[in-house]
Amino acid sequence: MAPLGVILHHLLLALVLSAPILALQSPATRDLTKSLNCHLPQFTCAQYGVCDVQGECECPAGWGGVDCLSPQCDSLADGPNRRLRENGTSCECKDGWGGINCNVCKTDAACAGFPLPGSEKVHPDPEGMTCYKGGDAVFGMHQICNVTNRLVLQEAKGRPVQATFSCDARSETCGFQLWIAEVESFYCALEECVVKTASTSGYEEGFVKSTTYACEQIKCSCVHERILCGESGSVDLTEFLREEIKGPASFTCSRSSSDSNSAAKCTFAEPAADELISDMFGDDHITMGCEAGECIKYSQIPGYQQRASEDYNKQRAFAPTWRI
Ligand SMILES: *[C@@H]1O[C@H](CO)[C@@H](O)[C@H](O)[C@H]1NC(C)=O
Ligand SMILES: *[C@@H]1O[C@H](CO)[C@@H](O)[C@H](O)[C@H]1NC(C)=O
Repeated sequence: MAPLGVILHHLLLALVLSAPILALQSPATRDLTKSLNCHLPQFTCAQYGVCDVQGECECPAGWGGVDCLSPQCDSLADGPNRRLRENGTSCECKDGWGGINCNVCKTDAACAGFPLPGSEKVHPDPEGMTCYKGGDAVFGMHQICNVTNRLVLQEAKGRPVQATFSCDARSETCGFQLWIAEVESFYCALEECVVKTASTSGYEEGFVKSTTYACEQIKCSCVHERILCGESGSVDLTEFLREEIKGPASFTCSRSSSDSNSAAKCTFAEPAADELISDMFGDDHITMGCEAGECIKYSQIPGYQQRASEDYNKQRAFAPTWRI
C-alpha cells in the first residue's frame, strides 16, 4: 500500500474512532487531502522532520513530499524546493553531485556559489570554494555509503544496500538512513554528537585519518511496509528499532590521505544494533564504504593553516573539533 494511502487510512480510522458521533454527520464531505495535518496523532513526518504551525512537515535537505518520504533530486545547492524523485526511478543528480538524493558534492566546480551559513547575502567567491571530502563536518556534511557486510549483501540478493549519513555541526546532530534498491527502509536521528579526528603518521606516502562521530542519543523508525519493516516476506524491525536502539551510537570512517577519492572504510556501532548484526550475520558492526562531501571555502578546510604539519595532526588527535 502507498504510504499516502496508509496515512489516509490511519487518519480515517482516527476520525471514526475518536469521533463516533461526528462520524454520523457525513464525514465524506470532509476533504481529507486538505485536512492532512501533521499535528494529527497518526501522522508522522519521516526523517524526524518538524511539524510546523500550519501542520506541514519541514523536511531535512534531500527529502520532500507531505510526509518527508520522497527523495529530492537536482542538488543540495538548489535549496529547499528541489524536484522530487519520481516513483520507481533513480535521481539524475546535477553535474558534480551524487548520492541517492543528490546531497553529496563530488567536484569543486559543483560548489561554486554554494550558499554557506551566515553568508547568504555575500556572494561567496566561486574560485574559493571546494568540495571537502574529509568527512568531518565544518557546517554540514553528507555521505553516501555502500553497506559491505557479506551476509547482508547475500540476503539482499543483488539489490544494493546503501546508507546515507549527514551531520550538522551547529546542532551537533546527525541523520542516518538505510536504503535497499534506493528505497528507504528506516531512518535514525542522532543527537549530542561530538566529532573526533585522529591520524596515524609514519608512512611517507601519507597517513590514515579516522573520523568518529560519537553520539549520546539515537532514535530510529521503520518506514511502514518497506523491506525490513513489514513488507511481506521480510523481517520486521519496527518494534526493535523503536524499543531497542537507544545509543550511544558511533559512526567511524578511515580515509587514506594519499587516495582521497576512494571510498572510506566506515562502521556504524550501537549496542543493540551490534547485537542484532552479530546474531543475524556474524559481524561486529554494520560496515560500509562511504564518500563524503561538503561545500566550503578552501580556507575553512579543517587544519588549513598547518595541513602539512604532522605535529598539528598529532595535537588534533582525539580533541573534539566541534565547539559547544
Ligand atoms: C510509488 O511506489 C510505491 C512503492 O513502490 C507504490 O506503492 C505507490 O503506489 C507508488 N505511488 C505512486 C503515486 O505511483
Ligand atoms: C557503491 O557501489 C557502486 C556500484 O558498485 C559504485 O559505483 C560506487 O562508487 C560505490 N560507492 C561507494 C561510496 O563506495
